[in-house]
Amino acid sequence: MRRGLVVLAGLLVSASVYAQAPSPQERLKAIAADPVALRAAVDGGKKVTFFCANCHGEDGISKTPDVPNLAGQNPAYLLEQIRKFGSGERKDQFMQGLIKVLKDEERLQVVHYYASMPVAPSKANAALAAQGKELFGKLCVRCHGDKARGDELFPRLAGQKVPYLQTTIQRYRDGTGIRNNQLMAIATSTLKNEDVTAIANYLTQLP
Ligand code: HEC
Ligand code: HEC
Repeated sequence: MRRGLVVLAGLLVSASVYAQAPSPQERLKAIAADPVALRAAVDGGKKVTFFCANCHGEDGISKTPDVPNLAGQNPAYLLEQIRKFGSGERKDQFMQGLIKVLKDEERLQVVHYYASMPVAPSKANAALAAQGKELFGKLCVRCHGDKARGDELFPRLAGQKVPYLQTTIQRYRDGTGIRNNQLMAIATSTLKNEDVTAIANYLTQLP
């Protein structure tokens, strides 16, 4: 009985602590809803990203084929991926180390900065893109959206680099442990490598 009370008191205390401290995702939304705070976050983010620019480009359009564009990506998605690198749920030797340097506040600024940058689609093979469009319509559209622009839970894929898309889609499919997501494992399970290439060609040229 006494023990039950102690446990109950503990739960109440942690519940009230939780209620007082908004989660990073909640704070991200609060900033987005306030134009002045958003402007300040974007400006602050630009400064923090000076060492991200080497790989992701100054404006979030990556300079290397295996590095993703961050420009125009949903800020909630970016923040969640940063969390995953930090916890080791997502693996990349550079990103896991780098992300530890960022303070919580800087993470919010960085993702708002990149989200505010314009997307730059790439050229694609037209025949492959047409094939990819059909596959995307069957297998991917219900989560990533008909323009592949995603939302808070599902990433934007439109305008992303072909090699990054190929590698990433194959990692989910092959269960390599580098990217883990049940929904993506199921969605990609029937794709051949040629299909993956076709889908990547379709996605990269979308604005
Ligand atoms: C040395 C190169 C390098 C630097 C510097 C770098 N990144 Fe990355 N970043 C990568 C690579 C490579 C990936 C893709 C990893 C993978 O294959 O999953 C990535 C992925 C990401 C992702 C996930 C994007 C997505 O679409 O899933 C985010 C967010 C990110 N980086 C943010 C940052 C931030 C913020 C900084 C600066 C603090 C930074 N990166 C610096 C190489 C780098
Ligand atoms: C049932 C919902 C669902 C379907 C269907 C789906 N996806 Fe996803 N996709 C997700 C989720 C959720 C994530 C984020 C997973 C994570 O955090 O790693 C994701 C992530 C991705 C990423 C990683 C993007 C990045 O920059 O990090 C790519 C690429 C991708 N999906 C491509 C596809 C393709 C191609 C298809 C169709 C063959 C597809 N998805 C179908 C839910 C879905």
